[in-house]
Amino acid sequence: MTTTVPVSGGGFRPYEVVVGHGLLAELGARVAPLAQGRTVVITDETVGRLHGKAALASLKAAGVHGRLLTVPAGEASKSFSELERVIDRMLAFQLDRKDVVVALGGGVVGDLAGLAAALFMRGIDFVQVPTTLLAQVDSSVGGKTAIDTPRGKNLVGAFHQPRLVVADIEVLATLPERQLRSGWAEVLKHGLICDSGFFDWLAGDGAAGAKGDPGALERAVVRSVEIKSAIVGEDEKEAGRRALLNLGHTFGHAIEAELGFDEAKLTHGEAVALGCALAFRFSAGQGLCPPGEAERAEGVIAAAGLPTRLAQAGTFRSAALVKRMAGDKKAEGGRMTLILARRIGEAFVAKEVDAAAVTAFLEREIAAA
Ligand code: GLY
Repeated sequence: MTTTVPVSGGGFRPYEVVVGHGLLAELGARVAPLAQGRTVVITDETVGRLHGKAALASLKAAGVHGRLLTVPAGEASKSFSELERVIDRMLAFQLDRKDVVVALGGGVVGDLAGLAAALFMRGIDFVQVPTTLLAQVDSSVGGKTAIDTPRGKNLVGAFHQPRLVVADIEVLATLPERQLRSGWAEVLKHGLICDSGFFDWLAGDGAAGAKGDPGALERAVVRSVEIKSAIVGEDEKEAGRRALLNLGHTFGHAIEAELGFDEAKLTHGEAVALGCALAFRFSAGQGLCPPGEAERAEGVIAAAGLPTRLAQAGTFRSAALVKRMAGDKKAEGGRMTLILARRIGEAFVAKEVDAAAVTAFLEREIAAA
C-alpha cells in the first residue's frame, strides 16, 4: 500500500510525501512530471553503492535524464567546501533553472543537496528520497536545509521545501540496526509531543518497527510524517509551534557536543532519546508532569534499546552541559528555552527556564549514576 501525506502551509507551495514499499522503482515516474529537463541525483558513497543504480534506472525508464553526484558519507560533507564542489559540479553539468535535484540519502545528503538546490541559480526544485529512518520521519520533511561550520552545526542554511518526498520503506532493510534504532527515537518523539494514542501503539504492537518489521515501520513513518506535516504547515519558519519538534534536542545537542559529536559514542537519535527522557524527568521534577508519565516515557524509550540515562552516554559535568544548552541556537535572548511536557502527548515550549534548576537537575542525574 502507498500512502500520500500532503504538506501545505501559508508560505510555501504544497507538496506530497509518498510512503510505501518499493517506491525507488517508481522514482522516475514520480519525478518525470516535475523534471522538464535533467536531474542530478546527489547521494553519498554508501547509499550510492546500494541504491544509485536503481534510482538512475528508474529515471531513465521514465525518460528522465539523470546523473549521479556522489559526496563522501558522513557529517563532514555538510561543509562549505563540499557545498562549493556540489554546486560547481551542477554548473559543469550545465543544469538550469528548470532542472531538478534529487537527494538520495540520509539527513546529511538531504541537508547538503537541499541547500545546493536552494542556492543554485537562486533556487531550483528538489526531491527528497530519504534512505534512513531518521530522514524519512524527520529531516526530509519541512524544508530545513543546512551545512555546519567549525562554530556549530546547521548554522548556515535555508528553508527550501522539496517538491516531493519519496519514502521507500524497503530501503530501510539495508540500515544497520543501530541506525534504525536511532531513527526510532524521532518516531517516539512524535508520539511524546502530541499523540498519546500513537505512543501507546509504539509501546505495544508498534515496537516491532524498532526491530525492522516493515509493516510497523510503514505505519510509524506515515504517522510521524502526518504529525510533522501538520506542525510545519502551521509554522514553517519555527516562530512558535515547530519548536516542539525540538523535544529532547536541547539536552541531546549539549550531550552530543560534549562528546565531540562522535557518532561511535552516541548517535544523534540516541542523543534525542536520552534528551527526551531527561526532558520528561525534568518536567516531573518541576511538578509540571506526573512522575508516572516520565517513568513510562523512559520505559518505552529503554525498551527500544535507546539510552535514557547520562551514564549510558559518558561522563559529564552539569555546568558544561548547561553552558552548552544556554548557548544552543534555540535559546532566545540569553534565556533558556526548553521543550517540556505536561504528559505523554502534550509537550509545550517553556521559555525562560531557570538555568539553576536545570543545573541542579543534571547534578542529581549525574550523582544518581
Ligand atoms: N527537525 C526539526 C524540524 O524540522 O523542525
